[in-house]
Amino acid sequence: MDLQRLQPLPRLPARGGGDRCVQRHTHAFPGGAAGQQLAHTRGARAEQLPEFFPPIEPLDGRWTSFGPMSITLLNLHPTPADLQRLVRDGMQRSPRQLPAWMLYDAEGSRLFEEICRQPEYTLTQREIMLLEQNAAAIAAATGPGLVVEFGIGNARKVDPLLTALGSSVFAALDISLSALENALTGLANLHPGIALVGICCDHTQLKQLPHHPALEGQPCIGFFPGSSLGNFTPEEAVQFLANARQLLAGGPLLLGLDQPRDPALLEAAYDDAAGVSAAFAHNLLTRINRDLNGDANPEHFRYQARWQAHDQRIEMALVSTRDQTVHLAGDAWFFRDGEAWITEYSVKYSPTAAAELAERAGWRIERRWHDPEDHLSMHLLQPAD
Ligand code: AVI
Repeated sequence: MDLQRLQPLPRLPARGGGDRCVQRHTHAFPGGAAGQQLAHTRGARAEQLPEFFPPIEPLDGRWTSFGPMSITLLNLHPTPADLQRLVRDGMQRSPRQLPAWMLYDAEGSRLFEEICRQPEYTLTQREIMLLEQNAAAIAAATGPGLVVEFGIGNARKVDPLLTALGSSVFAALDISLSALENALTGLANLHPGIALVGICCDHTQLKQLPHHPALEGQPCIGFFPGSSLGNFTPEEAVQFLANARQLLAGGPLLLGLDQPRDPALLEAAYDDAAGVSAAFAHNLLTRINRDLNGDANPEHFRYQARWQAHDQRIEMALVSTRDQTVHLAGDAWFFRDGEAWITEYSVKYSPTAAAELAERAGWRIERRWHDPEDHLSMHLLQPAD
């Protein structure tokens, strides 16, 4: 595989040659609940990070085509040096937490699709129905334009929108190359006439679309369904919305948000009886073990999902079942028995809370569509000025 083919994210520093080797480090330890960090001697080379170096064939230097020629891809995935820095930052937080996008390697993306099919997790089915039933009204409200989806989800969500808008191009941004390939292949079957553009990146950081002839000359319509905004802290959510406003350059944003409701229902949705949510969280350990030369034992952590009323969110965590040391990319991290390693938060936004959040990022909510029980909303955001 050719490391030179990877392009750094625009806001991320360009890689130097030495960055390709994940080096041994000893750090000042923040103390408190984050536990004790130990010096450690193992290292991980970039070549051992397969998920972060997907083999791609370049087209015009940067773009890649695959499958049907209507699909083109650009790989702007964070580099191993970025990844190592993010993991180190996350492990020094108290409580410990890595960016939620790290849950989505190929297996994580597959498990998330399975979560969406669990009877307790109704969000996806509700949102698909909402979009199917309201696509024409939504398209009339947005007007025509290029749909840009942040974090490719189930193709059934964007499908009715593309039909209602009569789109000829669709762009999707996602951290997982395999998720992009699968979703775009599905869409190519449904819409053989549409040019599909996939950009593999941390879409929370992107402030402008990369140059591609198919993306020029029409207004953008942002699409961020699935309540994925809830996986950010409110501060990160405001930052994301501000970045999206810049990227969409005056275009609207369709934002799907899950709402607060009975805590028992929410806890069940995030800890399903079949154990898929637990497997999804445990896969984070498998993934970082593989990609960062780690030794976290999934059997030494139990999964927990709790509603936290004060923050209007579900907290998902892996709780250490013993005192233990986990090694990652040459670092060692001590976990106390009972210490929580947060895998994700899922904040639920009432329509009022959504309006306040949007306003903080320079948006106003123009319209809202919701499901019959009013559990979930699709908001149409327009730039405030
Ligand atoms: C992707 N995101 C909106 C999901 C959620 O509902 O917060 C992630 C998830 N994690 C476990 N279950 C669902």
